[in-house]
Amino acid sequence: MKICVLGTGYVGLVSAAVFSELGHEVVGLDIDEAKVKSLKAGKIPIYEPGLAELVSHNLDSGRLSFTDFYPEALKGAEVVFICVGTPPKADGSYDSKFVYSAAESIAKNLKNEAVIVIKSTVPPSTAETVKAIIAQTAKVKFSVASVPEFLREGQAVNDALHPNRIVIGADSPQAEQVLTKLHRKFNCPILIMSPASAQLVKYASNSFLATKISFINSMAILADKVGADIADVAKGLGMDPRIGAAFLNPGLGYGGSCFPKDTWALIAFAESLGYDFKFLKQVDQVNNDQIDYFIAKMGNVKGKILTILGLAFKPNTDDVREARSTVLTAKLKKMGAIIHAYDPVVKGEFTDPYQALVNSDGLVLVTEWQMFLDLDWAKVKQVMRRPNIFDGRNFLDKEKLKKIGFKYWGIGRQ
Ligand SMILES: NC(=O)c1ccc[n+]([C@@H]2O[C@H](COP(=O)([O-])OP(=O)(O)OC[C@H]3O[C@@H](n4cnc5c(N)ncnc54)[C@H](O)[C@@H]3O)[C@@H](O)[C@H]2O)c1
Repeated sequence: MKICVLGTGYVGLVSAAVFSELGHEVVGLDIDEAKVKSLKAGKIPIYEPGLAELVSHNLDSGRLSFTDFYPEALKGAEVVFICVGTPPKADGSYDSKFVYSAAESIAKNLKNEAVIVIKSTVPPSTAETVKAIIAQTAKVKFSVASVPEFLREGQAVNDALHPNRIVIGADSPQAEQVLTKLHRKFNCPILIMSPASAQLVKYASNSFLATKISFINSMAILADKVGADIADVAKGLGMDPRIGAAFLNPGLGYGGSCFPKDTWALIAFAESLGYDFKFLKQVDQVNNDQIDYFIAKMGNVKGKILTILGLAFKPNTDDVREARSTVLTAKLKKMGAIIHAYDPVVKGEFTDPYQALVNSDGLVLVTEWQMFLDLDWAKVKQVMRRPNIFDGRNFLDKEKLKKIGFKYWGIGRQ
């Protein structure tokens, strides 16, 4: 099948690479000329394990190509995926400008019948607006469907090659048929529903996962108060098959390009319908408060050098959108702390963790990169001014660290 993917960010680039890997002819388009130039040369602008190899393999096969020219990208495409960003606006609602601008470009340049698929995370009603925008100008038959994306950054290639379900929101039998055929190579259930239901599935998934995180973080505060160990509590809780063990890791709360913005967007969308989504507002509030709860463990930080280990919002990605490191750094700086930071992938002022820790009064673990487990802790203790460790992910081996002479603070673990 001939496929066009609009937007070559985390979702678009992975989708384009995976569909070409499955044998389809895919053109990826982006309005960012520099990005397209680099992609054409086989250079991947993001850090995502396995993606560079997949893109390069499919560029070589001739099934995958990139352009910044809409007429070229849309030529002959039977399916057009919209994978552009949907960032939050100041009031929390989602900014539709990239999706609507992509729809306008499709309208002007579509010359053959196609199914337009919204893969970006958007609230119900967006599909109708996209349909109306395209219908104003397009001279050919088209339908609009929603196929939300569930991949996780850091494991995106594997997730996109082996999804656990495909959700197709189609409002015409023709779109349903084309999209079912396109996805039939994936070895997972295909759910067919209305576009509005499909869009809600995506918001429900991310909001529910955010809820689990805020719940376990609240329980971790209780564990601190009674001297319990939240890891034991989470283990006992997660073994109940009705609950499941995933997303019960206490810490600094959730960040990243999806959970914060999608919970805010759902709250704002509910509000636009006259529903006050109090439950989700609390989930968001707990997530915000968690940073303050953690900072309180550090005592007076004024004039202290604190070294943040990990800037990416989670390991195995370079994405810092809404990363906890950003919120934490801003708060600590405001309180008078001097911040040093190191991340193995995100570029910062330090290129070595030990350098970043020289004369430090506290090591603050923010992202659980594997390499931080394997630091030379005797060397760390030697270069730091004070042996204080604040583990924002309950990730480090606290017994080992205590034996070496560090003072250790986690969340819900003594
Ligand atoms: N990142 C994730 O893990 C993830 C997972 C599931 C769903 N999503 C959703 O997928 C969507 C895309 O997310 P992302 O992280 O890939 O975003 P991103 O910011 O990494 O990429 C978006 C790309 O779209 C391009 N773009 C903007 N306007 C365009 C236009 N009119 N035409 C063509 N290209 C245009 C941008 O230049 C950019 O390269 C969002 O709605 C997001 O919520 C993201």
